[in-house]
Amino acid sequence: MTNLSVKLFDIKFKNPVWVASGTFGYGVEAQEIFDVSKLGAVVTKGISLKPRLGNETPRIVETPCGMLNSIGLQNPGVEKFLTEIYPKIEHLDTHFIANVFGESEEEYVEVCIALEDAPKVVAYELNVSCPNVKKGGIVFGHDPVVLGSLVESIKKRIKKPLLVKLSPNVTDVREFAKVCIESGADGLVLINTLLGMKINIRKKKPDLATKTGGLSGPAILPIAVRMIYQVYEAFGDQIPIIGVGGISTWEDALEHVMAGASAIQVGTANFFDPLAPIKVLEGIERYMKEEGIQDFSELIGVAHRSE
Ligand code: FUM
Repeated sequence: MTNLSVKLFDIKFKNPVWVASGTFGYGVEAQEIFDVSKLGAVVTKGISLKPRLGNETPRIVETPCGMLNSIGLQNPGVEKFLTEIYPKIEHLDTHFIANVFGESEEEYVEVCIALEDAPKVVAYELNVSCPNVKKGGIVFGHDPVVLGSLVESIKKRIKKPLLVKLSPNVTDVREFAKVCIESGADGLVLINTLLGMKINIRKKKPDLATKTGGLSGPAILPIAVRMIYQVYEAFGDQIPIIGVGGISTWEDALEHVMAGASAIQVGTANFFDPLAPIKVLEGIERYMKEEGIQDFSELIGVAHRSE
């Protein structure tokens, strides 16, 4: 028997394959394509206190081996999520993790508190790494003192586990990982998008209305793997890491896992292959059978032990 389940922050996930925030909506539309209950978890699009229209268009552009987005955290707000979207997903036999965004510390706290009584939402993924907004996002994630204070004050007022999605646009991601651990975070999610720009040579200006955007897709896989490896090496015995960044195939996912991720999120691949998460799940299971690995946990961080 192959055991794909993982227990993280005292929650059992049926498998380690999750879908990343902003690439899967809230899991409503995907139900027409495959059985969403097969996933280990769905991480929602960022949810804020008030509805947000997001940035001006164009806000997506393709790049070599990836894409740039500058959506600006468009979402209907937490109240509408609970009254209109949540009833469409609460029957699903998978966990939901709410990606939570605020423009101030109090807003982050209020969104989490509003979600405390929604049993399908089992944890929060703190968005302190969106590079596309002027308030919130990386404003919190790029200052260790501000980040520590945010994590600490949310932790004091919530019951559910708190994961922090870190920005890769920093000199040493371990500094931020350390602050999160010391402030009480239950898990780390690595990595969000890398700040980039594409210039349209016919228009002679940047393609995106906001000029810069977040780079995701296969192009960022080696960067994500390197950062997970570094954080696992430093803190792997203290906190679980969730890997996200550039995963399109089961082989990519296993790189994240062997670097130190206890679970992974499929992101941009959902846009060009909506079945990618299922293929990743099936591929990991097949690999485990071929390699005679019975328990998925044997693979976590194995690259550190094979040197
Ligand atoms: O612009 C966006 O909505 C992106 C969000 C994120 O990268 O977290």
